[in-house]
Amino acid sequence: MKIGVLTSGGDAPGMNACIRAVVRSSIYMSHEVFGINKGYNGLIKGDIFQMNLSSVADIIHRGGTILGTARSDEFMTEEGRKKAVEVLKIYGIEGLVLIGGDGTFRGALELAKLGIKVIAIPATIDNDLGFTDYTIGFMTATETAVDAISKLRDTSSSHGRANVVEVMGRNCGDIALMAGLAGGAETIIVPEVDFSEEDLLKKALNGVHRGKKHHIIVVAEGAIDSYKVARELEEKAGIETKVTILGHIQRGGVPTVFDRIMASSMGNFAVNLLNEGKGGLALSFTCNRVIEMDIAKALDTKKKFNEDMLKIANILSI
Ligand code: F6P
Repeated sequence: MKIGVLTSGGDAPGMNACIRAVVRSSIYMSHEVFGINKGYNGLIKGDIFQMNLSSVADIIHRGGTILGTARSDEFMTEEGRKKAVEVLKIYGIEGLVLIGGDGTFRGALELAKLGIKVIAIPATIDNDLGFTDYTIGFMTATETAVDAISKLRDTSSSHGRANVVEVMGRNCGDIALMAGLAGGAETIIVPEVDFSEEDLLKKALNGVHRGKKHHIIVVAEGAIDSYKVARELEEKAGIETKVTILGHIQRGGVPTVFDRIMASSMGNFAVNLLNEGKGGLALSFTCNRVIEMDIAKALDTKKKFNEDMLKIANILSI
């Protein structure tokens, strides 16, 4: 069988480990494997090449994606998707492994409806997919955020300032929540929970009165304007406040052990499913193991925010 693999949407550390697993598992099972460059755009354009064992040498530890990635407007159209199916026919590719986030999964569902055998693997730093406990790249991005928080805490303590640290996550507060808890942040502001200015100011002033030298506020990008939070702290609590927007630094870097292992397991699992003639499936990491489920059902699963973890973070930072 001929198997294609692509990465789509925002890149996430661990995508390379996943591509490696797909390529090596396919070859191990005597399938031919083809890399598709630049996501769905590359698929439509036929930007496809055959991969071998060496194509994925020396990449397990690298961030980014050797296949490149894109967010494709053309694939959102019916015409674009029809072109993609034609290209797959020309190459004789019967099975596809699609690695990415929400948009990638929606594309996967459309391809499945057009009769292509697809397996979709969740990879996005946002961890915003409800059907899986974790997505590939999330832990690495969170580690990057925690590392930044620790560094900012040093300078924050030295100067007796507050620091607002803005992390990514689109509309999901998971990076902020876990980085905030692991980094010992005083306040965590996420889109899923209403922000209380009163609580923020009370906590900051209590900290000042009991001699705390720093005050770290982690803000998820989708929650509130970080500069507004800083202004409030300066104007209403009189605390000098700096803002750091971490931005795309969270998307790169050496993937953590967890991300590499999840990526490797999922890549292998996907090829096993194609080998068994299955398709139309999403992979999920649930209760410490990889499982498969119908893509439509996966996309219907609403993401739940872990409010208990936020409560713990708030208690531990009193
Ligand atoms: O989905 C991953 C992500 O990094 C989000 O956290 C962020 O909002 C967005 O992508 C940034 O997109 P771009 O790389 O296109 O600027």
